[in-house]
This record gives sequence, structure tokens and C-alpha cells, in this order.
Amino acid sequence: MKNKIIAGNWKMNKTRAEAEALLKELLPLVADAANTVIVCVPYTDLYSAVELTRGTNVHVGAQNCHWKESGAFTGEIAPSMLKELGVEYVVIGHSERRTYFGETDGTVLARTKAALAAGLKPIVCIGETLAERQSGRMEEVLTRQVTEGFKDVTAEQLADVIVAYEPVWAIGTGVTATDEQANSAIKFVRKLFADKYGKAAADALYIQYGGSMNDANAAGLLAMSDIDGGLIGGASLVAAKFAAIVHSYPSDGKR
Ligand code: PGA
Repeated sequence: MKNKIIAGNWKMNKTRAEAEALLKELLPLVADAANTVIVCVPYTDLYSAVELTRGTNVHVGAQNCHWKESGAFTGEIAPSMLKELGVEYVVIGHSERRTYFGETDGTVLARTKAALAAGLKPIVCIGETLAERQSGRMEEVLTRQVTEGFKDVTAEQLADVIVAYEPVWAIGTGVTATDEQANSAIKFVRKLFADKYGKAAADALYIQYGGSMNDANAAGLLAMSDIDGGLIGGASLVAAKFAAIVHSYPSDGKR
């Protein structure tokens, strides 16, 4: 059975000093985790996060990267810059970037490929809006996001990718998808990957759920057959809550 991958997405929160304090509180709480633990922090916190987590079981991720290696792209960060810092993961295509910063399936694909080429592991976010779900277009949207967003990603590269299914209506709203809603959407996504890459690759692919996951609902979500972990926003900013999510699977306390 797969372990779970639990990633915190701090978004635009925590100054360097605050990040250090949060990590110092978190590290001992998750030191014996049975699951993989990642913190995706703002760019300005990456250096200290990498230093503080060195030699621990906590991995560090960024929240975006550009698709070019260098050049006249004011305000952007290249994947190689992250890699050199010791960053291992990078969130790509989060719905907030798609909504507020013009991210498209095409730019998601470009960033994903650049991240992979630099040796980073992308956490690629997909998910439908409320209007898309209510108008019966969820499957169509997820199909487009996977088809376009992974267009020429190879099977070999897919082994280094994590997918996060994050229904936009559940992000930061306090409304979580039910265990069954999340699981059935992820099953659908896995089938899309199976059609493209074969069943073995799709089964091996980690697909997280994200959207108002917290210490109260994580055990139920993580117990579902197809949910391989979580991408956690708000609850990842409180060490005890994030640690509780990390420890909520397996739920029998066997670690
Ligand atoms: P949330 O955010 O847990 O605060 O809903 C999840 C995400 O956006 O990754």
C-alpha cells in the first residue's frame, strides 16, 4: 500500500521569522511521521526552510516557477534557482494562479516540463469551479486540464509528478468535498492518466485531495481508496493542526 504525501501550501503567508518559528514548532511534531511531509513556502522563506529542515524528514517546495532557465522575465524565478537552493518540490497551476495570474493549461504544461527538466518534482493542481460542477461539466474540465496540461509529459517524467485534485469551490471556503465526492473525482482523474500512460503508471501516480482539508476531516478523506494525500492551505499554518493531519493516516495509530 502507498504511504500518503501530505503537503502544506502556505500561500502568501509567513515572514522569514514567522516561517522559522512555525517550522521549529512543526519539525518535532512530525519527526516520526509514517507519511511524506512537504512544506511549500513563499520564495523568501525557501532558504531558511531548506536550512532548518536539513537532515529531517520534512521536504521543501516552492509555489511556482517559470518555464525559462533565465532571461528578461522580471519578477520570475527559474527552476534551476530553486534546485540550487535545495528545494525539491514546486506547486504548479494552483487555482489561485489560474484565477488571478492568467495561468492556463499551456503555461502549466510549460512550467511542469521546466521543473522536471531541472530535477524538481511538480505538484500539479487541477480542479473544477462550482459553476462547472453544477452545470455538469466537471469531467469535461478535468479531461481538458489533464489532456492539455500533460500533453507531452512522458511516462518516465510522470513518475516524478504529484497531481493535486482541488475543487475550486472547496479551497479556503470551509466547504470540503465529501469523502465520496473527492474519491470519485480522483478515480476519474486516475482513469484519464491510465488511458494515457497505462494502468500501472496511473496506479503509481500520487493524486492528492486539496480544499479545506483539516485535522477533523483528514482521516476520512485519507482512508479513501484513491486519495493519496493532501494539499493543505489554511490548516498548514498551524503546526498542531498540520501535524494532526500528517498523523491521521493510518488511523489505527500504527506507525
Ligand atoms: P485550503 O487551501 O486548505 O485553505 O482550502 C488548499 C489549497 O489551496 O491548496
